[in-house]
Amino acid sequence: MKNLHPCKSSWSRASRIGTTIGAFGLAVLFATSAHACDSCNYAFKEEVLNERAGTLVGRDLLAAIENQKDLPLGYTSALASTSGAEAPSPVLMAQASTPRAPAPMLMAQASSTPAPTPAPAAAKPLPALFDGAEFIDIIRRDESLTTRSTSWVPQDAVPDKKFEIIMDQGLSYLGNGVVYNGFRTNRKIPGPTFIMDEGDIIELTVVNKGTIAHGASIHAAYTQTSKFLGAIPPGEERKLLFRATHPGVFMYHCAPGGHAIPMHVLFGQYGMMVVRPTKTKYKLEEELGHGPDVEISLIQHEWYANGKDAIEGNPMYVTFNGKLFRYIEEPIKAKPGDYVRINFLNIGPNLLSTFHIVGILWDYAYWQGHPEAMVPGGQTVTAGPADSWVIEFRIPPAEGSYTMLSHAVGSTSRGAIGLIVADKDAETPVQVAAEGPEYTEEELEEIAEKAVRRISPFEIGSDDVDGPVVYGSDVKEVTVKIIGNSFYPKVIDIAPGTTVKWVNEDVFAYLAGEFAGIHNAVAISGPERFVSPLMAHAESYSFTFEQEGEYDYICTPHPYMKARVIVSAPPAPPEEPVEVASTQKVPMWLAALMAVGLIATSFGLIRKKS
Ligand code: CU
Ligand code: CU
Repeated sequence: MKNLHPCKSSWSRASRIGTTIGAFGLAVLFATSAHACDSCNYAFKEEVLNERAGTLVGRDLLAAIENQKDLPLGYTSALASTSGAEAPSPVLMAQASTPRAPAPMLMAQASSTPAPTPAPAAAKPLPALFDGAEFIDIIRRDESLTTRSTSWVPQDAVPDKKFEIIMDQGLSYLGNGVVYNGFRTNRKIPGPTFIMDEGDIIELTVVNKGTIAHGASIHAAYTQTSKFLGAIPPGEERKLLFRATHPGVFMYHCAPGGHAIPMHVLFGQYGMMVVRPTKTKYKLEEELGHGPDVEISLIQHEWYANGKDAIEGNPMYVTFNGKLFRYIEEPIKAKPGDYVRINFLNIGPNLLSTFHIVGILWDYAYWQGHPEAMVPGGQTVTAGPADSWVIEFRIPPAEGSYTMLSHAVGSTSRGAIGLIVADKDAETPVQVAAEGPEYTEEELEEIAEKAVRRISPFEIGSDDVDGPVVYGSDVKEVTVKIIGNSFYPKVIDIAPGTTVKWVNEDVFAYLAGEFAGIHNAVAISGPERFVSPLMAHAESYSFTFEQEGEYDYICTPHPYMKARVIVSAPPAPPEEPVEVASTQKVPMWLAALMAVGLIATSFGLIRKKS
């Protein structure tokens, strides 16, 4: 097999040796386990494929590679590294099944699709920025339509605005004494709110200051974004230029590729972009003749304590703009009569929101913030994950408070609630950004020390969240699921002689980026060593623990995934029942005498009656 990357040999050799002979192979493996190199993704997949040659999984993956190999995918494919896609080894390619031909019906439909028609020659002159562009006929057609153009611009265009996003991993504070360890944007969850005008050419730089691959997907751009911003290796940065063609309220999020995209979204990397309309005004602005007095950008989003809950949509907390009860603690102030606009985005990533303000009916709401998608009136807006609305209303002519909440009230009671207070002394205009509170690293460390609870979806949180699940000595086998880049349960307490079976429940094994949903379980401390092979979906590995002690282990493709096995002898059986003191015990002879007496008495009574 071709050696694809210098670190490949040590990784694969280490795991092979480690599985069979232990100590030496493990030393090599542990030495390399701290190593974070994006190209290893490629090497791993090669190994995964070779081990599965001839299996159904291997056949499916190879078919994907075969079908993708000549496509202009940009950075990504079923089996691509981010640092240049080398072809899989010829041996593997030869095993790939022949791609199935498209069904005849699909072929018929495809052949009847008309080719794009070039625009009439009389179309208006193109902006100079498109000079020399490929597909110029398509650009000319799009520029001449009444509908908006796409966001594509040459990557050497001159930007109107420049924005920067910094991706990393670390702590944030949720409020109520809870600290969270996850994935951040500009050291917050949610990341910064970016406001731009329709028509602006935006230069967006994404910097990866983390230790694993991150990236970005930009919903405000009607053009490819992951080709430019997907799967950025640690320490590197990438740029995208796009034109903000479509007004509205949009999500952006981390996009390191494949399985890692939902993981990084579930664990905190996202934010809001607002594209203000310049061609059409929102209706209330037009009626009142001025912009909003209070503009609130509001993200509703969920927090998960482990990967299983994240995949299943069972959040521990739900917040507005990154903090539990944030706008109860610091109510947003408006004056009676003020014009309020809310840029509302439900990030989810799983739950539906029905946003409502107690005491307010909307004057107008705009689906996804598009000024032409106007809905008059209403008590709620219904927003699925990544769904948004611009909402406009007036504060009635009185002082008092208005409660903002998701009327899917499970989320309200988990933290998604806040206040707008009408106060005649409020100072407006005011703008609220849809981003998490900002703390210095020192402040976050202090918060972490004082926190009453720590949650971390992929690491071991505080005992009240991830405390050991204890199994008795009668349990001979325990299953630990690997799901959502997290072990579940994260900490187990078992008796010596118990077998632990790890099963990979992650399904998404395709595409490049942070290594796909393929995992292993590798001991990094403890009296015995175990090293599982890499497990694809539904594969498993078992190890029987004989020696007492604590075993910390990780997944080496995702070294942030941490868990523990505690092997402890079962508590001694309860002592023999204590002999009842002889004074309380009735001797046999006395018992017999009493029984005879009782029978005699009963007999006497019966005799008397008769
Ligand atoms: Cu990320
Ligand atoms: Cu993993």
